[in-house]
Amino acid sequence: MIFSKQLTQWRDQVNENLDLFLPSENSHPTRLHQAIRHSMEAGGKRLRPILVLAAHQLFPNRIDPMPAALAVEYIHTYSLIHDDLPAMDDSDLRRGRISCHKAFEEATAILAGDALQPMAFELLVKGYAEYPELGLDLVRILAETAGNRHLVGGQMQDLLSEGKKPEEENLKYIHENKTAAMFRASLQMGLRIGNMGNNEDKMRMMGKAGRSLGLAFQSIDDLLDITSSSEELGKDADHDSEQGKVTWVTLKGEEEARKLAAQLTENAREELKKVGGDLEFLMELTSFLLDRKS
Ligand code: IPE
Ligand code: IPE
Ligand code: MG
Ligand code: MG
Ligand code: MG
Repeated sequence: MIFSKQLTQWRDQVNENLDLFLPSENSHPTRLHQAIRHSMEAGGKRLRPILVLAAHQLFPNRIDPMPAALAVEYIHTYSLIHDDLPAMDDSDLRRGRISCHKAFEEATAILAGDALQPMAFELLVKGYAEYPELGLDLVRILAETAGNRHLVGGQMQDLLSEGKKPEEENLKYIHENKTAAMFRASLQMGLRIGNMGNNEDKMRMMGKAGRSLGLAFQSIDDLLDITSSSEELGKDADHDSEQGKVTWVTLKGEEEARKLAAQLTENAREELKKVGGDLEFLMELTSFLLDRKS
């Protein structure tokens, strides 16, 4: 299948399943579920769930990767809701919509993010009940990634570094943990579900590929913040300098940031080749992500 068709098909499938699994807006307490759906239904690229589906496709089997795909999107969306809060990045726009705490209020946005986290693990536990060993591994990967050592640790350091002198080691830690860790987890979870899930070498190499791809992704995100409009991005543009964020652009300038993203994308491609399997889609995705405008 051609790349763009596959991308659209997987995105549509993810959206359909999100709609199916998320509690309706009429579920009690309705305000909480409206807030969750406000942020979830606003769209978004659905990249991380697509990475799960694509990684499963390398060595496919009959086990459904969709519950894992939805689980990573729940964690990602919660992280965006909290990232936008006034106490964090203070952003008013997300996924082309007014951000969750502005559409509702802060307490509801905090609770919507809180709820999505255990809901992600509930999806994994129920979705892989027939395969307890697999289910446990998926829970372990996502729990480690979403927790103190990675996503939250990265967000903590991102906030602590606001307005500080940029240092390369610190910036690497931030990108590796707030962003790249979820890319790594998504690819590893997809691979783990498929036929080569017990192959430790492939899992390790997939981890490296996810890390490289995620680092490239954050470098491009930082560039787009200054080169794209809020309209194009669907989120507040020119926001990083306002918040005093440390980015590759502030550290080394636009050109170096772009070079770095290209190099990291090349690294990801080499690492993916070492994983093997039917790589056509994932290879095209790496270029698509490097050239993205939103
Ligand atoms: C935004 O991620 C947060 C970063 C890690 C830069 P995305 O750019 O994937 O956001 P959505 O899911 O498409 O809204
Ligand atoms: C956020 O990084 C990464 C998360 C874990 C949410 P950013 O703060 O740069 O993401 P955007 O630019 O608001 O999407
Ligand atoms: Mg942030
Ligand atoms: Mg932000
Ligand atoms: Mg950003």
